[in-house]
Amino acid sequence: MKSILGIGNALTDILAILPDDSLLKEYHLPLGSMQHVDMETGDRIWSALKKVGVKYVPGGSAANTITCTSIFGMPSGYIGKIGDDELGQLFRSTMEQYGVRTTMLHSDKSSGRCMVFITGANAERTFADYMGAALEMGPEDLKPEYFEGYDYFHIEGYLVQNQDLIAKAVQMAREAGCIISIDMASYNVVESNDAFLHNLIDRYVDIVFANESECRAFTKKDDPVESLRELATHCEIAALKVGKDGSWVKSRDEEIYIPAWPATPIDGTGAGDTYAAGFLYAHSLGLPLKVCGEVGSIIAAKVVEVVGTKIDVPRWRTAKLEIRELIEKANA
Ligand SMILES: Nc1ncnc2c1ncn2[C@@H]1O[C@H](COP(=O)(O)OP(=O)(O)OP(=O)(O)O)[C@@H](O)[C@H]1O
Ligand SMILES: [Mg+2]
Repeated sequence: MKSILGIGNALTDILAILPDDSLLKEYHLPLGSMQHVDMETGDRIWSALKKVGVKYVPGGSAANTITCTSIFGMPSGYIGKIGDDELGQLFRSTMEQYGVRTTMLHSDKSSGRCMVFITGANAERTFADYMGAALEMGPEDLKPEYFEGYDYFHIEGYLVQNQDLIAKAVQMAREAGCIISIDMASYNVVESNDAFLHNLIDRYVDIVFANESECRAFTKKDDPVESLRELATHCEIAALKVGKDGSWVKSRDEEIYIPAWPATPIDGTGAGDTYAAGFLYAHSLGLPLKVCGEVGSIIAAKVVEVVGTKIDVPRWRTAKLEIRELIEKANA
């Protein structure tokens, strides 16, 4: 089986269900917003949430994707940076429980976390992020041996803000002979790193995952299919995700629409990350483009049926059966 290495911000979600919005007011967090906070504020918020009761879920986009490829059975590795603290230990041990081979770098700063305030009858989410150690990862941290032996290298788009880090990482991944993929992560990342991202994708990236707003920001084309076509001129394979409407994949003269796999969605978190995992897993088996997109859609349809990013065991079982059937049909 081919192997995959991912790199990303090692962040842990700290989720708290709150009786009212008094803590939001106390920390000046507008309902539904996402704010970056400094270490001091981050620590104060965390202590306040602890009193109410919290749930810890290690994550981050690439970490979610890599956990998923590991469950599929691909030898999977992860590079990220944590602090010398319990949250960092939890991140590492959770990844390792899923069979991921971790290369955790260490910083003096405390581990990055995303504090999620869940309030009101509709379980509205308000976020306070403290990036901490994750933001300290730099080019000097990377060593060629981290990449050796891997067939795929997957980058979380949020890291593109650290251009020196990514420039060095893709160089090393290329030298190790990896197929390189990126998930564009967010349209603001794309907008604020336009020239760098174009150069990166043109020169190094083989497979690009983008949703509509990311693809539009990259190509400056409003029509989704036109933007997909434009994106595909920059890489070997372009995948455009359109939520409940499915996805489009394009490679050279092949262009395929893939409907979403049936699901009863309750929370879209993690759909993009798991789609990438399913797609890359199928690609690593040498399956046709259409099947890669379908495998991505099957696994993404499972994550939207659960709250958060972790698919439960029964759904994993169903997904693996559905995927096996699909692959058997493709090979028949
Ligand atoms: N409601 C849904 N029902 C079934 N499948 C879905 C649903 N929402 C998303 N998916 C699947 O997940 C894939 C990725 O979702 P989406 O288009 O939301 O990506 P994204 O914007 O990158 O997501 P994320 O918010 O996780 O970053 C879709 O292409 C589709 O196959
Ligand atoms: Mg996404």
